Amino acid sequence: MSSNKKLFIQTLGCQMNDTDSQHIAAELEKHKDYSQTDKMEDADLIIINTCSVREKPVQKLFSEIGQFNKKKKDGAKIGVCGCTASHLGRDIIKRAPYVDFVVGARNISKIKDVVDVKGSVEISIDHDESTYEFATAKTNKYRASVNISIGCDKKCTYCIVPSTRGEEISIPIEMIVDQVQKSVDLGAVEVMLLGQNVNSYGRRFSDGREKSTFTKLLQEVSKVEGLERIRFTSPHPLHMDDDFIEEFARNKKISRCIHMPLQSGSTEILKAMKRGYTKEWFINRATKLRSLVPDLRITTDIIVAFPGETQEDYEDTLDVVNQVKFDQIFNFKYSPRPGTEALNMKEKEVPDEIGSKRLIDLIELHKRHLEAVMPSYVGQTLNVLVESLKPNGEVCGFTDNYLQVFTSGSDSLLGKFVNVKITSNTRTSLKGEIVE
Ligand code: 5AD
Ligand code: SF4
Repeated sequence: MSSNKKLFIQTLGCQMNDTDSQHIAAELEKHKDYSQTDKMEDADLIIINTCSVREKPVQKLFSEIGQFNKKKKDGAKIGVCGCTASHLGRDIIKRAPYVDFVVGARNISKIKDVVDVKGSVEISIDHDESTYEFATAKTNKYRASVNISIGCDKKCTYCIVPSTRGEEISIPIEMIVDQVQKSVDLGAVEVMLLGQNVNSYGRRFSDGREKSTFTKLLQEVSKVEGLERIRFTSPHPLHMDDDFIEEFARNKKISRCIHMPLQSGSTEILKAMKRGYTKEWFINRATKLRSLVPDLRITTDIIVAFPGETQEDYEDTLDVVNQVKFDQIFNFKYSPRPGTEALNMKEKEVPDEIGSKRLIDLIELHKRHLEAVMPSYVGQTLNVLVESLKPNGEVCGFTDNYLQVFTSGSDSLLGKFVNVKITSNTRTSLKGEIVE
């Protein structure tokens, strides 16, 4: 459908936000005749989809919308969506009166109703959109992202998400399978199942139906013909029971790369974070996975300098890093967030310079690990799904365990699986030549 109204969306934060932005764009195209542009200056509607997980992105929001307001086309509207919209609500309009509307992370389906109502704020935290049929999102041709639940029931003491995305409700299994099928019909070979806590899937549905499990969902999704690869994020280490691990190992469609957010390696700190598992449990789960799944890559999130973290606690984290040998680490320095329990631990906060030093040392340790591991791929032949063509003529794709591989090629390879003999490496990617 051609239209003369243009939409520009800027997305901050997690993959859930990426999918929400796709839904926003699809809803506005279907119901309000907007088409997307990547030039903010041309847009009639500018939306910023925000993140509030750490303080930095929140600060970024106000400087960013200030810039948008200065540079936007005459008469263009500005909307703020996502997690910061949920937690600041009308205060956003008070602080930045040129903002036309505010839509929280749990209210995305209302976008078509608020877009023409100046000053509207929709941030209800119990709004249930688990059965709302969003207009089909446009995705990267070969990969689709499909939400499997909304909200989060965990109460990790550092985390603002339960208050921005509300209680956890699972999306009905048939809606998920249908969404995966539609994506495959549009050319996707890989699906990313998304939720704040994917492996607690099935505990609560809004129609009160019988409970289900994430393992069952994986089995159903893997029956979709034409779907080659299933990925998911984020699973919670606490819910990685044997059933799940065995399905992970058995099901050939599941990508051999798993995200296991450690957060801390110290049992004491894990307790203060209310994560529900110990250092030993985490190592036990990772070891079991590695023993059953050859070539498994494990990625993680780590927060350093949580209130009360001693040098000894930090060394426990380094110990887990050394034992589990993570393939990728997303490192964060603890950032106090409004409304979280950890805010009551103010007197135990770790001085900023110590936090920064711990972060740097952790990054260094991991760099050394990657420098030791990545060259071991050189000489191996890896199966790669080619996804994109780079301006320099190379193509880029990912192996089943989610290693990024570059090789020379053309657009005729897009969406195909090829064997690549690896000839060189960096800390984060590989390069090679296609072989038969
Ligand atoms: N401070 C620092 N990092 C945080 N995360 C979540 N909340 C905070 C916080 N208050 C990190 C966690 C989570 C990732 C998405 O962001 O590691 O897994
Ligand atoms: Fe995603 Fe959490 Fe940021 Fe919200 S606060 S966008 S759920 S990372």
